[in-house]
Amino acid sequence: MDSIDTMRGRFLDQIAQAADPDAIEAVRLTALGKKGEISLLMRNLGQMTPEERKTAGPLLNGLKSEIDAALKARRAALDDAALDARLQAEWLDVTLPGRPRSMGTIHPISQVMDELTAIFSDMGFAVAEGPQIESDWYNFDALNIAPEHPARQEHDTFFMHRAPGDNRPPHVLRTHTSPVQIRAMQAQGAPIRVIAPGRVYRMDMDQTHTPMFHQVEGLAIDRDVSMAQLKWTLEEFCRAFFEVEDVELRFRASHFPFTEPSAEVDIRCSWEGGQLKIGEGKDWLEILGSGMVHPHVLRAGGIDPDQWQGFAFGMGIDRIAMLKYGIPDLRAFFESDLRWLRHYGFAALDQPALAAGLSR
Ligand code: DAH
Repeated sequence: MDSIDTMRGRFLDQIAQAADPDAIEAVRLTALGKKGEISLLMRNLGQMTPEERKTAGPLLNGLKSEIDAALKARRAALDDAALDARLQAEWLDVTLPGRPRSMGTIHPISQVMDELTAIFSDMGFAVAEGPQIESDWYNFDALNIAPEHPARQEHDTFFMHRAPGDNRPPHVLRTHTSPVQIRAMQAQGAPIRVIAPGRVYRMDMDQTHTPMFHQVEGLAIDRDVSMAQLKWTLEEFCRAFFEVEDVELRFRASHFPFTEPSAEVDIRCSWEGGQLKIGEGKDWLEILGSGMVHPHVLRAGGIDPDQWQGFAFGMGIDRIAMLKYGIPDLRAFFESDLRWLRHYGFAALDQPALAAGLSR
């Protein structure tokens, strides 16, 4: 059968030239589809004599399988080529070094706030917060600072504006974190143990003062809280915060309207070759004010001074940050100089935890 050889040649040619799956499918239909040329020939087998069928049958069947196999092979070859093309196009060098991303740092003040929060929360203190724009009652009166009290002038207060004709006393930018004591007492009652870290404001600007700075307030009220417990708490704090075994604190009698008795606390230190060392030496550095909470203050917080007593303290956060990390100039804290921030800042993953270096 000459025509079968011609047909085979023609189909194999077409298959070899089919450039995509659609073209292959078109050849398949013309050859092997329901009305395809090979299918039609096979249908004719029925009308042949048994003799004719004997030779034509195997020939046609052979042709059918050969074309079928050729179609499959061509399809597979096209798939391989497509995959190769994709592999070429989507090739990626995973050994290339990554692109550096500039990373920010944690400001030393934030770091120190996290550190002291970790230390005090280990001693059972919760964190309390209050507004930075405060009423003069919370900032002064409730803390036993009467209107004519000299402390009001000493604080160099920023007053908020009042509309003309509004004669209420102006709000202030809080001059210390002590008003948070009152708010915490009012909100929680006694017993209470809180610290209140945050921003405070005073009209003051020189090498050691900025108009905005940070304090942390501490307050512990219970039935029989004592000055001795205040001393222990502060010593424990300094040991953990400055990471030195031997700290020595000196309590100096002082005066604050909101505490009675009051004490300022100094920490033993030395200066050697401009290097500050905490815990040893013959110098003293003032780090905080403290005392036993005045009965008037307890009452302002809604707590009965005949039932409860406690201690309070207020510490400069910027101050202890400078001491711990050897930062010489306070003003640099708030200048947002990127070089300074990179130098003194902390890595985001450098999370303060008592188990991770902050020792007790
Ligand atoms: N509020 C004081 C200040 O800003 C610091 C202070 C002193 C807070 C004694 C206290 C304290 O709670 O008992 O200078």
